Amino acid sequence: MSRQFIDDLLARTDIVELIDARVPLKKAGKNYQACCPFHTEKSPSFTVSQDKQFYHCFGCGEHGNAISFLMEFDRLEFVDAIEELASLNNMEVVREQSNQSPAEQRKQQQAHQQKQGDYELLEQISKFYRQQLKVAADKDTAIDYLKGRGLSGEIVQRFGIGYISDAWDGMMKVFGNSRQVSQQLVDLGMAIQGDKNRPYDRFRGRIMFPIRDKRGRVIGFGGRVLADGTPKYLNSPETRIYHKGQELYGLYEAKQANKQLQRLVVVEGYMDVVALAQHGVDYAVASLGTSTTAEQLQTLFRTVKEVICCYDGDRAGRDAAWRAMENALPLVRDGYSLKFVFLPDGEDPDSLVREQGQEAFEQILETATPLSKFLFEHLLASVDMNSLEGRSALVDSFQPFLQKMPDSILKDSIINELANNFGTGSEQLQAKLSKNVGQENKARQVQKQPKVTPVRLAIALLLEHPHIVKALPDPSILQQLNVPGIPLLCKLVDLCLQNPEINSAQLLEYFRDTEQGTQLNKLMCWQHHIEAEAAEDVFLDSIEKLLNTFVEQRTEVLLQKARTGQMTQVEKQELQALLNA
Ligand code: UTP
Ligand code: MN
Repeated sequence: MSRQFIDDLLARTDIVELIDARVPLKKAGKNYQACCPFHTEKSPSFTVSQDKQFYHCFGCGEHGNAISFLMEFDRLEFVDAIEELASLNNMEVVREQSNQSPAEQRKQQQAHQQKQGDYELLEQISKFYRQQLKVAADKDTAIDYLKGRGLSGEIVQRFGIGYISDAWDGMMKVFGNSRQVSQQLVDLGMAIQGDKNRPYDRFRGRIMFPIRDKRGRVIGFGGRVLADGTPKYLNSPETRIYHKGQELYGLYEAKQANKQLQRLVVVEGYMDVVALAQHGVDYAVASLGTSTTAEQLQTLFRTVKEVICCYDGDRAGRDAAWRAMENALPLVRDGYSLKFVFLPDGEDPDSLVREQGQEAFEQILETATPLSKFLFEHLLASVDMNSLEGRSALVDSFQPFLQKMPDSILKDSIINELANNFGTGSEQLQAKLSKNVGQENKARQVQKQPKVTPVRLAIALLLEHPHIVKALPDPSILQQLNVPGIPLLCKLVDLCLQNPEINSAQLLEYFRDTEQGTQLNKLMCWQHHIEAEAAEDVFLDSIEKLLNTFVEQRTEVLLQKARTGQMTQVEKQELQALLNA
């Protein structure tokens, strides 16, 4: 990535706007605040500074600039975060040589190019599958199938649904012509390397559902047989670009259809998502596996505040719901809710919405069981409430679940309900539960404040208020100082002089993933309580202290030389000057 480009990108980005779109912020004095998205807490210690273009949580210590935020919050790699930020700003990414070792650079570039190539290839294949619905010899069978399932052309298009006829090389014939691409297709799970030399199509005679990531890139496929063949669905295996536990089928499409998504419904199948969208419920996603993983739930709760998991009413459905609930417990903070819907026997969302329509389906969603009720019902069923032992066992059985929950009103109300309805002495019970509960929450790390030294102070202030560099009378003299931290200070001074408009976030970005960057980040989070108005004076004062140290050091060196009689004429004059100063 070009340095200049990253600078421009950060200059155009407003971190407050970026974060506010994901975590609603409240103005608090000069800064903005929210409950931290990176750990669970009841009162906000996550702070975003517009001046510094920097965020910092005083609770858990997470911090950084807009790029860091996207990397952490959207779980993006550095390069992807840059690309995402660029596309938010309608900018084209500019690349250039970096100062890494050539070997490292090549490796990274290759990995990046390989992934880009992967996305490109799957996009083309997806397009090819879509075209097959228009040109395949047996296209009518496929179209009839889709029609038979009640899907309109518009919905088929929205989800990019396609088709591939039943042949060993329908896709390979078009794409697998070079040895290199053949291998890539095997790597991506699109082709299977058999005993014979030539790899063959994994997906044959199937309706093809492209699986897209959050950014809309095709990363894999699910394919459904038209008739009664087995397996009914075939899916892409895990590959270097597809990790199914992290993805949600339909999330991209749901986000595209709703600028302001309020809630998401998690269903089991591809067809459920598509059929729901067909009937106006365009906020369903499928979890691409048997149970919903913690990572998927995290993605869901980063997108909306209300998540409703919709399962079959049978044993398997209840088990899947239970596992999802366990994964979700640490994520349910105040303002967020997880609910469960169990459908009548033999129905799935697809059949239900087709028979009864959008309104009826949404009516069912309204009756969803909240997490706490689900938990109570489940745990109540396993104890004998008529005995004292049973009641006590019930309270105990709640402990592991409560322990996983962040402090919240919901948790308090569960404890209250337990105490009021099932405990003997509710206050004792409260105490007992409260004591054991909440220890697992990410502990407030007591942040070690750096010791105040002139160098640290100068660096911290310059980092926060880069423009004060202009007040420095003679920047070059700093280089002669022999004090730890001076090289870093000099580097900052240089950067600030060269880029008069630079802000804190841009400065920090020059030091990403370096030892110096770590130091700078610490200083950025340092609460030294020096107001912006005083910054310049304190900065100059620190520099003066440093220069005094320099004078002392230099005097000492020269006096030492004088004692051993090794002094030149020039040095004699210098010492004289220093002693008079
Ligand atoms: P279901 O068997 O409930 O199918 O599988 P469905 O969604 O109702 O499919 P239709 O309506 O018959 O077309 C639910 C999900 O489980 C996965 C798929 O993701 C499917 O959408 N599955 C199912 C497989 O991966 N392979 C299978 O053979 C079956
Ligand atoms: Mn179905």
